[in-house]
Amino acid sequence: MEAIVYEEFGGPEVLRHATGVAVPEPGPGEVRVRVAAVGVNPVDWKRRYGWVEEFYPTTFPAVPGLEFAGTVDAIGEGVEGSGEGSGEGFPGLAVGDEVLGWTKTGAYAEYVIAGIVAPKPAELSWGAAASLPVAGETAQRVLDLIGVREGETLFLHGAAGVVGSVAVQLAVAAGITVVGSASESNHAYLRELGAIPVAYGEGLAERVRAAAPDGVDAVFDAAGHGVLPVAIELLGGEGTADKRRIATIASTDAAEYGITFSGVVGDPDAVRAALTAQARQAVEGTLAVRIADTLPLKEAARAQELSESGHVRGKLVLLP
Ligand SMILES: NC(=O)c1ccc[n+]([C@@H]2O[C@H](COP(=O)([O-])OP(=O)(O)OC[C@H]3O[C@@H](n4cnc5c(N)ncnc54)[C@H](OP(=O)(O)O)[C@@H]3O)[C@@H](O)[C@H]2O)c1
Repeated sequence: MEAIVYEEFGGPEVLRHATGVAVPEPGPGEVRVRVAAVGVNPVDWKRRYGWVEEFYPTTFPAVPGLEFAGTVDAIGEGVEGSGEGSGEGFPGLAVGDEVLGWTKTGAYAEYVIAGIVAPKPAELSWGAAASLPVAGETAQRVLDLIGVREGETLFLHGAAGVVGSVAVQLAVAAGITVVGSASESNHAYLRELGAIPVAYGEGLAERVRAAAPDGVDAVFDAAGHGVLPVAIELLGGEGTADKRRIATIASTDAAEYGITFSGVVGDPDAVRAALTAQARQAVEGTLAVRIADTLPLKEAARAQELSESGHVRGKLVLLP
């Protein structure tokens, strides 16, 4: 099969477009999917550099990519008809079903062994489906972690990024006021989503206070870039701030500030249920991921370079 493979850590040049890669065989309790579209995530190039080994250890040769959408192509023993005894639990899945979710074998490939998957509604495009799992799960996980509720005010750093924009939509739908930081060029987009935009950089805390004069109840850092001292200041300063109400997915120095870095996908059954619901919301038009561009799989290195630039407007999608 066709796949993107790398055998050492490094820049985009270590990615090789290979043909003739062995198609993975589903073992007992496993499901194989023929991939229709792949979502590119910043963690794909962070892994390629070897920066996130403590969370995602790499075995070479490695195939990048966490999320995909595609069609179930083969199922291992103990899967068909019921999740019972399937190990991973794929309730009711059969060959030919369209799914979206996570892979255990690397998504930049024609075939993958599925991790957690949910049914893909027929009306959802392949690209939209492949763009949803990571952003949807991460956004919901962090909103739950910081316990932000209806009537409260959230500061969301990096609100126009893929994860940030999904978090804005989920929070606004839950009756939360969102102040979101983004580049100037994304402010109109944030207003459309229902957030109050502010520019990041010098003076960020003052701008957030001006946008939320009654104060901020919780902070979600979806961008990093040294924002944690600002987050603490917004919640009353060191010694006063309730740090359980701050979480980051991007600042790897979180522990130095006593702040939680959230990086682990939640309970599989809950994640599958949430992804199923989010896929329905995407069809109904109440939850959307912007797609920045769609590229052929062999241009994976270029897609990762674009992602690394830090200002792509939406999800990059690869098509095998
Ligand atoms: N821990 C986890 O579970 C987890 C899961 C998913 C993602 N992540 C991480 O979360 C981050 C966002 O992921 P994503 O998929 O949403 O990426 P993305 O769509 O590329 O978004 C990147 C964001 O960073 C912002 N940004 C760029 N330069 C900045 C700066 N100097 N100061 C402040 N913000 C800046 C961008 O804002 P503008 O576009 O408005 O300039 C944009 O909002 C990445 O670091 C990713 O690795 C972690």
